[in-house]
Parts: sequence; C-alpha cells; structure tokens
Amino acid sequence: MNIAVLGYGGVSKAFIELISSKEDYLKREKISIQINYILNSKGGVYDPKGIDYNNLLNFTSNKGNLIDYPHGGSSNLTFNEILNDKNIDILIELTPTNKDTGEPAFTHMKSALENKIHVITGNKGPILLNYNELNNIAIKNNVQLAIGCTTGGALPSINGGLFDMAGADITSIEGVLNGTTNFILKEMEDTSCTYDEALKTAQRLGIAEANPSLDVDGWDTATKLLILTNVLMKENKTLNDTKVHGISHITPNHILEAQKENKKYKLIGRTTKENNVVSTSVGLKLLESTHPLYNVDGKNKGLRYTSSTLGDLTLIGGASGVTPAAASIFRDLININNGYKFSK
Ligand code: HSE
Repeated sequence: MNIAVLGYGGVSKAFIELISSKEDYLKREKISIQINYILNSKGGVYDPKGIDYNNLLNFTSNKGNLIDYPHGGSSNLTFNEILNDKNIDILIELTPTNKDTGEPAFTHMKSALENKIHVITGNKGPILLNYNELNNIAIKNNVQLAIGCTTGGALPSINGGLFDMAGADITSIEGVLNGTTNFILKEMEDTSCTYDEALKTAQRLGIAEANPSLDVDGWDTATKLLILTNVLMKENKTLNDTKVHGISHITPNHILEAQKENKKYKLIGRTTKENNVVSTSVGLKLLESTHPLYNVDGKNKGLRYTSSTLGDLTLIGGASGVTPAAASIFRDLININNGYKFSK
C-alpha cells in the first residue's frame, strides 16, 4: 500500500516512528507499506520509492524543514500531486482541526475519497460536521473512511460500536473520553491540590495544552461523544444540541466530600435514547464505586454502551498521547489492508 500523509505535527511524526519500528511485524504479516508523500502547509517531501523514515525524522528533528529535505523536499508540492498520483492507495489526514468549518481537511478527504483513495484520519472537525456526507462518498467509490483516532485514539470506541455491537441497537453511550481532565481529577484526588495546581502539573508533564480550554471546558469530550452518537446511532447531533460543562469549577472540598463516600468525580459524556428521543450532554458526575467507569483513572479513557440485544459493553484503556494516537491510525491501516469495511 502506498501512503500519503497530510500534516506533520506530533501524531504524524509518531506515526512515522511507529511504522519504522514495525518493519519486522509488517514483514511477518506480509504487508507491504511505503509512504510516498508527507505534506504540510508549506510543501513537503515526495519519494516514489518510499521515504526513508529514519533519515527524514533525523533531518527534521535537527530543525530541518520538510521542504529542504535533500531527498524529495520541495515547496512546490501540493495536495493536487497526491490526487493525481494513481499509485496512492491511502491518505492519512492529520492537518490541524477546525471544528467550525472542518477545512481544509474536509476538502482533502472528500477529494481523496472521490478519487478512490482510502482515508484514515484523526481530524475531528470534518468528522463531527460532515461524517455522513464523507461516508456516503466512500461507499459510492468503494473505499474506506476510518476514523478510530477521532474518538479516543487507542480506545477501540468506534470499532467496538461498529463491529462488536453489529446487529444490536445502541441505546446509550456513556464515556470518560478525555485523558487530560481525567488526569487532573486523579491528581486532585491523590494530592489534595487545587484545580489550578493540577492543571499546571498536567501542563508541565505535556498532558494538557498551553491553552487547555478544549479539554477542560468539555469540548473535546463533546466532540468525541457526538461523533460516536452520529456514527453508531445514525443521528445528526451537533454541539448546539449538547449541554457542555467542564471541570474548572471543581474544588478540593468537592473531591474530599466524594472520597469520604467512596465516590469519584468523572467528566462524563452521555447519550441517552428515551421514547426515541436522543439527548447528549457533558458534565461532571459523581460515580459510585460500583459504576463500571469508576476505575478509569489517570490518562485512561473508558466507554460503556448499552444495547437492545447484545447487553452492555464496557471498554477501558486508550491512554491519551501522540504514540497511542499514531497506533490507532496504524490499526486502521492494518484493518483496511485486511479488508475491513468501515464504510457501510
Ligand atoms: N486532548 C485529548 C485528551 C486528546 O486529553 O484526551 C486528543 O483528543
């Protein structure tokens, strides 16, 4: 399979490192993969024989720009070269996300699918806004749109719902879907510190962004919840349909009172379906120790589906970070190679 990667941020670099470390695995599994394009907004690198991963990573980690890379770097490379290249099988779309317009990723994905190129992405904006349209284009062109990285990375949330709940109606979704906020809450439980102190620790450890608003105000949780809801329950919910609250108002006293009762606060995204009305919300919930998500701690995430005929399914794991996110892209790549149908 010949791959083009769009975007050269943390997850892309981790993905290239991961592929490089998977040489033996790929040989053993008889899977042949090469990356022919890596592009960012300034240009990129093209090598028809396959980019040398370690060489490129060494070059760019020494502050070299992609466009100056001696083996195929150029400022003239654009997305159109990928579209016009009949040898490309898969586009990995990892450009910065835009949750208001979905662009430029939406156009990249749409054009690739129309050109019969599979798309794997961790880009939440266009999937939140336009999943149905993109998925229909994928079906029409007999290619796959794989989005596992958008809903919790290594946590097999989409796959669990798509494949392991097949044939059943999912009647509710409940999840701890954001590693950063879950880490902050655990830090407050363990050290009795304030919210601000826990946030600073998370930033110092590189878990929380310098501007942590998307995480701590609940938007990342809401986005993941809405994607799961729309894909698995065939809905068209938007952020406007969802009550979203974050965690920044929590105090050490809240945590202490909860601990006295053997309970824990978690930022929970919840979708319920009652009398055919689907409701979505995000906010802090106090969980009893018997709740299936009670032990989802630190950077881990967790998800619970209830269904009509397959009972309840709880998934726990998928700690947040660029390497697990890259591994979820790799998982989709392997599954596409093995003939999985994500678009149906
Ligand atoms: N910032 C997110 C988290 C990872 O903390 O889980 C990206 O979705």
